[in-house]
Amino acid sequence: PTGLLADHLGRPLHDLRISVTDRCNFRCSYCMPKEVFDRNHVFLPHASLLSFEEITRLAKIFVAHGVRKLRLTGGEPLLRKGLETLIAMLAELRTPEGLPLDLTLTTNASLLARKARALADAGLKRITVSLDALDDTIFRRMNDVDFPVADVLRGIDAAQAAGLGPIKLNMVVKRGTNDDQIVPMARHFRGSGQVLRFIEYMDVGASNGWRMDEVLPSADVLKRLQAEWPLQALEPTVEGETAERWAYADGAGEIGLISSVTRAFCHDCNRARLSTEGKLFLCLFASRGHDLRALLRGGRSDEEISAALGAVWAARDDRYSELRGAAAAPASERRIEMHYIGG
Ligand code: GTP
Ligand code: 5AD
Ligand code: SF4
Ligand code: SF4
Repeated sequence: PTGLLADHLGRPLHDLRISVTDRCNFRCSYCMPKEVFDRNHVFLPHASLLSFEEITRLAKIFVAHGVRKLRLTGGEPLLRKGLETLIAMLAELRTPEGLPLDLTLTTNASLLARKARALADAGLKRITVSLDALDDTIFRRMNDVDFPVADVLRGIDAAQAAGLGPIKLNMVVKRGTNDDQIVPMARHFRGSGQVLRFIEYMDVGASNGWRMDEVLPSADVLKRLQAEWPLQALEPTVEGETAERWAYADGAGEIGLISSVTRAFCHDCNRARLSTEGKLFLCLFASRGHDLRALLRGGRSDEEISAALGAVWAARDDRYSELRGAAAAPASERRIEMHYIGG
């Protein structure tokens, strides 16, 4: 049974986001607040992580079901030992038409200056960097481990030089924390060929103390940008895209707006998420995953795992962001955390 898989709401399976570690060396308040993820926090033991062979075996089964994009996430994926080896294994995979996959990674770039070349050599195609501010004081406060912004910018340059560009930059906007960085960030990346995307601060997980008044709606982000530079809406390029794209009228490139809170994009969400320990999550806001590791380690065949995956996807009806706030959204179970399932 290959391709043409559709979930309960008719959505195909297109992206697989693979979390390779639940650890991170940053403590962004919107993701891993220090008060919660302190010295006493217990991370997953090594034996419970999927091995590179297990990840690759699953990825192959997902590709047979229609997946065309693989994104490695974390935590911070560059903290996983030997990640280049996994990238090389995934770069070998082919679609049924014999084409390579879109293979990418989301990183905080703290280790990127050192690793960009090896990642590109292993077969990584492109990269997305999380960057919330250009101002060093604000950046250090947001990562909450006093990490300097200059090192991240060096990592971005190294990735560009290694052929991993054009790079996408993800900026989570928190009103009152870094919203004064919107225009400086746009000015910095305008004309660079890199694509800056502004992300609405989301109520993901259960530890970040999310409040609606700290969300700056994308419409306001756009207004602030329009006041400096005229922008024109672009048509979506691929179905199920997270970002709405806008181009600078003067030809200086484009920006993206990711508006999960004010303009939910569940209607064509084609993303599956595989946790570090091999659980399949059908939504960023899910509370429970489907244990694929148990199948892998229980001696099941590829056909059996494939059938299980097909059945799970066919029953999928998740659309949390569209239901957010509505009475239909049950908040009974503790939701998974972003550092565990990736962005
Ligand atoms: P490309 O545009 O192909 O590079 O990928 P992408 O937009 O899928 O990936 P990226 O990891 O850059 O996603 C950007 C951010 O959008 C993430 O960090 C999340 O904050 C948010 N995001 C991604 N996927 C989802 C999703 O399915 N639901 C919600 N609510 N937010 C998402
Ligand atoms: N809201 C929005 N985006 C988030 N990320 C993590 N936590 C949140 C949140 N609460 C995203 C960031 C980062 C990626 C790893 O996860 O965009 O780039
Ligand atoms: Fe780490 Fe990224 Fe989460 Fe920040 S957002 S704590 S860099 S995983
Ligand atoms: Fe997809 Fe869930 Fe995000 Fe909606 S909230 S876009 S269903 S991951």
